[in-house]
Amino acid sequence: MNIEKIRADFPVLQKKVDGKQFSYFDSACTTLKPRQVLDAMNAYYTEYTGCAGRSVHKFARRTEEEFAKARSKAAKFINAPPSEIIWTKNTTEAINLVAHGLKFNPGDRIITTNLEHSSGLLPWQAVAEKGAVLDFVLCSKEGEFNPEDFKKKLGRKTRLVSAIHSSNVTATTSPLKEIAKIAHDAGALVLADCAQSVPHFPIDVKSLGIDFLAFSGHKMLGPTGIGCLYGREDLLKKLNPMLLGGETIKDATLQAHVLEDLPDRLEAGIQNYAGAIGLGAAVDYLSGIGMQDIEDYEKNISKALVEGLLAIPQVSLLGPKDFKKRGSLASFSVKGMEPHDIALMLNDRNFFLRSGMHCAYPIHKFLGLPKGSVRASLYLYNSADEVKLFIENLSQIIKTFS
Ligand SMILES: Cc1ncc(COP(=O)(O)O)c(C=O)c1O
Repeated sequence: MNIEKIRADFPVLQKKVDGKQFSYFDSACTTLKPRQVLDAMNAYYTEYTGCAGRSVHKFARRTEEEFAKARSKAAKFINAPPSEIIWTKNTTEAINLVAHGLKFNPGDRIITTNLEHSSGLLPWQAVAEKGAVLDFVLCSKEGEFNPEDFKKKLGRKTRLVSAIHSSNVTATTSPLKEIAKIAHDAGALVLADCAQSVPHFPIDVKSLGIDFLAFSGHKMLGPTGIGCLYGREDLLKKLNPMLLGGETIKDATLQAHVLEDLPDRLEAGIQNYAGAIGLGAAVDYLSGIGMQDIEDYEKNISKALVEGLLAIPQVSLLGPKDFKKRGSLASFSVKGMEPHDIALMLNDRNFFLRSGMHCAYPIHKFLGLPKGSVRASLYLYNSADEVKLFIENLSQIIKTFS
């Protein structure tokens, strides 16, 4: 991978902040965008603005074509057919679409975990408020799951298992394939929150054997406001739309309506065309480099990050110490220092990290960190030199203030 060439594609990386170089280590929150994504989105606004599936003119037709191409690209990226992709605003909306769309009866069981992001937890709490029973599989203190623990929780009335794929806190990846097999053997459906996995390594939804998968465009070089729900076609057909309106119906009277076929019935109103087209361009960009190469590159820089953090005595790293078991982010706490203070001091030195709960309250409480952690999250545009400088700066801050 040619890191200099990659960095040259990102307009924001050509800039300085307060006259100095900066390091963006917050890609688990949202990623920077390459010129190719911005150009594709801009083309929609400057060359052919229209609505798909409505008007018959040339701009509308072009929008329809580009929108369909984007769906095919997003689908191919996870080895799904385009008919099984629904556009959403983000991962959060994708999970809510399933939580609100599936019919749960009182007493139906939903199993999830203590490692979930709020987006993978709160929608199920809302379903539980209407009578479903929510139960949890707990991870180890390092954020790892034993598939057997899922087996123990599954019973006759379990309708769905919802699990995070890669954690935005512990950097661990759940054994989704095994979990899916166990859940299916017990007659339950499986949803995976892949917000932190789809951007970082090759994903094949068919080989994972899951029923629903959610991801966000903005965490994989695409724009904000666009994401995907993958769902098995027979299951998508059974989802009750969360929103109704333009293009979701074949026909309507004053009293009733007939729902459209997929995907329109689940995509109400004018869609985020520029967003979907931008996500398609992001998929082209990532695929052009190769997801396996991206994963290998990230492992390399993550190794330096993890080893650097482990070498600072005051730092406690969340998740496994073995970099091979981790993704490209590292959350940590520092003895005697508050997470936000550390992030602010790093910000003063132009290192941009996230601090706090990272929308994952239960796991931080489980780990005894009520104020959360600091998180450095890397992506393909970060360099080994940046990681080295970061470790040096963090060490200096800790020496001075702890
Ligand atoms: C693991 C995980 N799931 C879900 C989300 C929610 O993503 P979005 O805000 O794009 O819906 C995030 C975002 O940080 C995440 O890290």
